[in-house]
Amino acid sequence: MISKNKQPSVPDNDRLSAIENSISNLEQKFEAIENGYTNVLNVTKSLAEKIGALKDVLSDKINANEERSSTHEVSQPQVILAPVEVKSKQYEPKIVGFLCNWCSYAGADKAGSAQIPYPTNVRIVKVMCSGRIDPEFILKAFQEGADGVMILACHPGDCHYKEGNYRAAQRYQMLKKLLNQYGIEQDRCYFDYVSAGEGEKFVRLITETVAKVKSLGPLKVLVE
Ligand code: FES
Repeated sequence: MISKNKQPSVPDNDRLSAIENSISNLEQKFEAIENGYTNVLNVTKSLAEKIGALKDVLSDKINANEERSSTHEVSQPQVILAPVEVKSKQYEPKIVGFLCNWCSYAGADKAGSAQIPYPTNVRIVKVMCSGRIDPEFILKAFQEGADGVMILACHPGDCHYKEGNYRAAQRYQMLKKLLNQYGIEQDRCYFDYVSAGEGEKFVRLITETVAKVKSLGPLKVLVE
């Protein structure tokens, strides 16, 4: 046991110095821990501030979206009254087609069976032979409002009545002169040959004649 007045011996001094060093080391460690704790606190505080800023940004965006959607719900569909362009009815000529029963009419039938589309301007009159078509029929058709007339016959040599199509061709030449006297354009009357197997030719002739008469416009001479 060491008395109060007694000076510590050398070994005791060493032990005391060692204890002081240990205490000093512990103090340094505590100081380091304290510094680390302070750093952690600062980092945590910084993170909290950033999270707060992010929450504010998100909150603003959510509010903006809600405001936009509520505006969308409230808004009513707009009825825009725009002027409607009224298109004038396009002129569609009326064509009367005199077709021989044995060839041209069968050709038209073939076009129909093959479902080949063609203008609906033509109204067909079936005759047993083109030789039966009197020029008076043509004039009557024009008088009744036709804008064009077609005469379609069997090919030369195919007429069932031998000469009917030849006569029809001769009458057509005379008829054109007659039309001139009435002030009717010759292009309003068309003559051609179409066989029973020429459905496509029938469609082509119809289409061309409709286009030609359409370019001439309505026939007014006999109407006025
Ligand atoms: S039978 Fe067709 S033109 Fe005479």
